[in-house]
Amino acid sequence: MDTKKTGPKALHVLQAQRREEAERSVLISCLPRTHHNKFLKYLSRHGDVNKCFFYESFGTYAVVEFSDRDGVGSLLESAAVPSISHESVVPLRSRLLAVRNISTVDTQSAPQCQPQKALPINDLIQQLSSCTNLEQQIVSLTEAHSLTEENIRLRFLVCSLLNDVASAFFPDCSIRPFGSSVNGFGKLGCDLDMFLDLDAIGAGKSNVSRSTAPYVEYQMKRSSSERAVTQGVLSVIAESLEQLGPGCVGVQKILNARCPLVRFAHQPSGFQCDLTANNRVAMRSTEMLYVFGELDPRVRALVFTVRCWARAHGITSSIPGAWITNFSLTIMVVFFLQRRSPPILPTLDQLKELAGPSQKCIIDGNDCTFSSDFDKIQMKSNSESLDRLLSDFFEFYSTFLFNKMSINIRKGKEEHKPELGPLHIQNPFETSLNVSKNVNATQLERFVTLCQESAWSLQNGGTLTALLLPSHVAAIKSRKKRKREPASERIKGLLESLRTKNNGPKKCCLDA
Ligand code: GTP
Ligand code: MG
Repeated sequence: MDTKKTGPKALHVLQAQRREEAERSVLISCLPRTHHNKFLKYLSRHGDVNKCFFYESFGTYAVVEFSDRDGVGSLLESAAVPSISHESVVPLRSRLLAVRNISTVDTQSAPQCQPQKALPINDLIQQLSSCTNLEQQIVSLTEAHSLTEENIRLRFLVCSLLNDVASAFFPDCSIRPFGSSVNGFGKLGCDLDMFLDLDAIGAGKSNVSRSTAPYVEYQMKRSSSERAVTQGVLSVIAESLEQLGPGCVGVQKILNARCPLVRFAHQPSGFQCDLTANNRVAMRSTEMLYVFGELDPRVRALVFTVRCWARAHGITSSIPGAWITNFSLTIMVVFFLQRRSPPILPTLDQLKELAGPSQKCIIDGNDCTFSSDFDKIQMKSNSESLDRLLSDFFEFYSTFLFNKMSINIRKGKEEHKPELGPLHIQNPFETSLNVSKNVNATQLERFVTLCQESAWSLQNGGTLTALLLPSHVAAIKSRKKRKREPASERIKGLLESLRTKNNGPKKCCLDA
């Protein structure tokens, strides 16, 4: 028997599989206590149902995956157009449906809804307080926050539904998820970043040989730049989602951003969506993070923990501004793990050296080549515990020379900053850019102070529960007012108050 352990699947293989599943799926609005068996019986008249699960988002929905596309076709064929007396319907049919006249059951026998949002921080803290040690807490947090199988399916299904709308204009386009929906670092409830791929249609993709023999070519509208084309295409897609896209609300065109995008909410899934086009570098950074996350389970665990800690203390925010972003934080964790001895992660340059000629990838003049072949990437054994790594992460960034040095995951070592901004994290592919250009000195200072306090807390037996409590930061905020008190005394007092809090009623008011 061949017992050779195979590495994780390549991202493009996983994505193709998910896309194909999504194309065989429909999204159905139903009553909260829909009779599961009758519902399935009705659906199976149209084809074999591979998978069916329920969730709640402005109502109850079911994701139904048929074993082939004929099942979807048959169901759509049988579907009625709603008859509405005081409104009119937009004549666009999609795979977003509603089931009528199916009986319901009592609450106890109602189908279980799959959670699509992460636990509120209060509940998470309570869950973590039952873990026996820090390592368990980190693992438990990672499990609680990770995207579930169902949530990933739903993300691909939403892309596929939107693809149907976009293909009315661009029949060969494809809408694909990127960012944390697919890079392994997505938290339940995170936004859905999508990429509209028009390459199959774009100029220069013609298979006609322009020889001396006669041929015809398309007459295509011209625009002043590729950026202008992207803006125009996204503007049209935004209009069509607004006017025709079932479930798409609050469509905003953000076309003057460095990377033009359309932002909207997809109500049936509850996802906040960002749709971009011509954003191939972000697809490469998604794949890079996926590779790093799959190389060692400690990577995801540490990233989830650091992101949660940062969110709990307002280091990151859902509002754009001078805050550190989740993407920057992830790069900081990667860099820290590249700096371990022996390193837990390879540098991007090392991954580039491992790439074969077929993996060469140049996007807009930027070399985005790296190998994602897990069988080729070999690391020396490093058995450091998660406790140690978390504590050392805080220590590492407590003392990092942010005023002089830049974080560079391509080289895996700090370099002199090429510009003055408070935090410099080199963009791994567009190397002249700073990923954290938005961060101001105050936010960096808050990050460093929290790293110092958290390192101290962990080195003195603190737990993750204590690190996630905002009272921890409240104490830091008021530190300046209590300057006369020695630091060790203040922290002792803080830990004492946390201990009391943990033993007392769990209902504290947290807004993170
Ligand atoms: P969350 O949405 O916060 O869970 O994380 P995310 O990784 O999805 O981040 P975000 O939605 O902000 O961005 C989506 C993807 O775009 C990221 O995963 C990166 O691949 C890319 N990206 C985001 N910000 C930057 C940036 O400043 N520079 C570069 N080069 N890429 C970025
Ligand atoms: Mg995102």
